[in-house]
Order: sequence, then structure tokens, then C-alpha cells
Amino acid sequence: MSRSAHPAGPRHADVLPEGHYSAPPADLNTLDEKVWSRTVSRSAEGIATVGGIEVTRLAEEFGTPAYFMDEADFRARCKAWRDAFGTDADVFYAGKAFLSRAIVKWLYEEGLNLDVCSGGELATALSAGMPAERIAFHGNNKSEEEIERAVSVGVGRIVLDSFQEIVRVAHIADRLGKRQPVQIRVTVGVEAHTHEFIATAHEDQKFGIALAGGQAAEAVRRALKLDGLELIGIHSHIGSQIFDMAGFEVSARRVVQLLAEVRDEHGVELPEIDLGGGLGIAYTSDDDPREPHEIAKALGEIVTRECESAGLSTPRISVEPGRAIVGPTAFTLYRVGTVKPLEGLRTYVSVDGGMSDNIRTALYDAEYSVALVSRTSDAEPMLVRVVGKHCESGDIVVKDAFLPSDLAPGDLIAVPATGAYCRSMASNYNHALRPPVVAVNDGAARVIVRRETEEDLLRLDVG
Ligand code: LLP
Repeated sequence: MSRSAHPAGPRHADVLPEGHYSAPPADLNTLDEKVWSRTVSRSAEGIATVGGIEVTRLAEEFGTPAYFMDEADFRARCKAWRDAFGTDADVFYAGKAFLSRAIVKWLYEEGLNLDVCSGGELATALSAGMPAERIAFHGNNKSEEEIERAVSVGVGRIVLDSFQEIVRVAHIADRLGKRQPVQIRVTVGVEAHTHEFIATAHEDQKFGIALAGGQAAEAVRRALKLDGLELIGIHSHIGSQIFDMAGFEVSARRVVQLLAEVRDEHGVELPEIDLGGGLGIAYTSDDDPREPHEIAKALGEIVTRECESAGLSTPRISVEPGRAIVGPTAFTLYRVGTVKPLEGLRTYVSVDGGMSDNIRTALYDAEYSVALVSRTSDAEPMLVRVVGKHCESGDIVVKDAFLPSDLAPGDLIAVPATGAYCRSMASNYNHALRPPVVAVNDGAARVIVRRETEEDLLRLDVG
């Protein structure tokens, strides 16, 4: 995930320290459209705006830190994915990236389906009116209660992750007098080029049933025998924040191979394959993500080709993008509290949030960009590390970036591309109050997840 250090001219220090940064950008005031959501730009006064509203006004009204989500961008991305895959394929938004009732409504309106992986996500989806048949239920250790609820409400599919779960879901469906549509999640043995903790298709990890050694074929054998299950297809998810399509191609090829084996052994052509999510987004100007239509084309071609050569009719394809839809649509707005230059190293910029609203840098060594957004500046760039207010030195939001050297307490800075896996992985570490998510659209802003309060924290503390 890291870029190599790039030689840069002497700036803040005589010699720049080791780090994962490129040379300072030519103009620190430019908001690169690669990493900022669609409606972000600067006003005539130099203040960044989203949906036509200045961030200074947003900070005044909603406080900081806060996530601001560009609704028009979210809807446009949903539409791009839906249009790219067309009517012969299904797009399931992966709710783990970020889920709220407003999101569920937008997904519904834009014609997407939803992947949930817990009872909580299922409850959110149902409470916002997502029809159960448009929901896929995931997870490597779903509880009996979760399965029972999913089967009773009639979710469109449950993705089975183990031999025990095949039996568990079948029994529950029997008991409820239902026949539950299911897919079997397989591990295809692909090493996706991403961080170890977010790669999921190599064999030594907890998800899925291995194709290797005939495990997946055995899972199919067992599922086909059980009356409570309607086996509709095979599922594979190879990891997350992936740019290289090669892993998806191998995955598609191996899944189609399994479909051919199933046809040969059982005389059954399973009608669907799901190739999971995992498409990468731009966190910095150096990242070059694929567009949905390129992804749809590449996946469609490989599945069609493999099926033709195996003499199978092409199954219905589904995909589960989470990050690629919501990631680029939001930024986190922080207020600078302190600016601490460390001679010969870098300048530490402390903001009013931190690892409680974005754990990704600490957890995956993730890279982010940052910009001064409450004004422009012509000051020299300085190498900074943006850190939070938590009690540990690993509390880093942006490891290496450049900000203008006249940055001062009270300035607003924003970190783009924080729509995915930031609010959804936020914590109350140090009893931090989790920030709100504010949807901005066409000159209007509204809270879709409110800021936590001390009362919220104390309500759970019943000792
Ligand atoms: N489908 C399945 C079965 C998944 O497990 C995931 C993500 C997705 C779809 C969506 O993947 P996406 O398109 O969002 O990459 N917390 C990590 C990412 C964990 C992803 C887990 N599964 C991060 O912050 O990078």
C-alpha cells in the first residue's frame, strides 16, 4: 500500500526524513478531483465548498470533527455501477463500508441491492424499508438468531461460509417451513495485492470454503441434498482496495470451473456467481482506480469466455462494491488545535479527532491526503503528520503530507475519501464522541447520523 520515498527539494527541513510521500504538489490550494468528491470546489474567497456550501459554514453549524457526505456523488456512483452492470447483473452495495437509513433509501431509489453482514446491519436495512429479497446476508459466524431473522424475513440470499453453517441454515429453514436461497462462499487461492488484513482469498484465513482439495465441491454436494436450501450459486471475495483486475480474473475462472464440475457431477447448472467487492479507490493523487464500466466489461468478458469454453450458459453475475461507492463521497473536517514543528523531522498537526474516527492509518498503514480548506495560502509547503488527540503515539490520521507552512490553530483541514470504513469503524476510545455524518446536496445539509453525546456514553454505563 505504500509508495516509495520520493526525492524532494529542501523545504521545511534541509533534508526530508524517510517517509511515504511524493514531492510536494505544485499548488497546495488545488483540490484534486481524483480524491475529492464530485461537487467539491473552492469559492471565490478560497474556501472549499461541497454541494455549494462553504466548509466554514458547515463547521459552524455542525461542529468538528464531522464527516460530510456528497449525496449527489453517492447517487451518481450508484447509478454508474448499476448502468455498467446492466439488467443481466446485480450490484449489492456492501453495507460494512458505511450504513445508515439514509444510505439504504438512496440505494433503494438508485436500484441497488444491499449486502449486510450482521444482525445490526440487517435491522438498519429493514427499518429503512429495503425489501428483504434485495438483501444478501454474509458473515463467517452468523448466530442462530441472525439466521432465524434473515430466513423469516425472506432475505434474497444467505452466503454460507462453513460446513457447519450449511447444516445450521438448512435446519432453521426447515423449522420455519422455508426453502432459503443460498450461495456458498469459496476461497479461490488468490493472493490479492493489498494489506494482509484485508485480503481474503488466500487459503490461510477465516473466510469461505477452499476450492483446493475438493472442499468446495463437497460443500455443494451437501447443500444440494438439503431440502431447506436452494443453492443458487457460488460466491468469491478476494480482498479489498485492489487495483489489479488479474486477481478477479483468476477468481472468476476458478469459480466457473467449479460450476462446470457441479454440472458434470450433479447435472445442475447453478444460475449465479458473485465476485464480491474489493475495488480500490484513490486516497492520494498517485492512485488510479478503475471505472465501473471497465470493471463490468472485464468481469463480463472473462465469465462469458470461461463459460463458453466449459459449455455452460452464462450465469447471472453479482458484485458487492462498498468502498468504491461510498469511499470517495465523503471527507472528514477537522479543526487544527496545535502545530508543533520538530526540527529536522516534520511538523505535527494535531486535530480534534483522530484514530477514533479513522482507524485505517493505524490499522493498515493506509495513506490519505489532506488540505487546508478554510482558506487558501501561498506559503511554502511543509511536511506534516496529521495526528489526533488520543493517548497514544500511533494516533495518526495522515502519515505524510504537505500543508502550507503558515498553518495555524483554528484553521480547518479536511481529509478526503473517508466515506468507507471510517465512521463504520469509529470507536469511543478515550471516550471520544463519534462524529456525525452530514449529507450535503444542492445547497442543503442535513445530519443523517448525529454526533454522539456524553449522555449517549453514560446511558450504556449502568454500573
Ligand atoms: N463483499 C464481501 C464479502 C466483503 O467481505 C467485503 C469487504 C465487501 C464485499 C466490500 O469490499 P469493498 O468493496 O468495500 O472493498 N476495513 C477494511 C476493509 C475490510 C473489507 C471487508 N470486507 C478497510 O478499511 O480497508
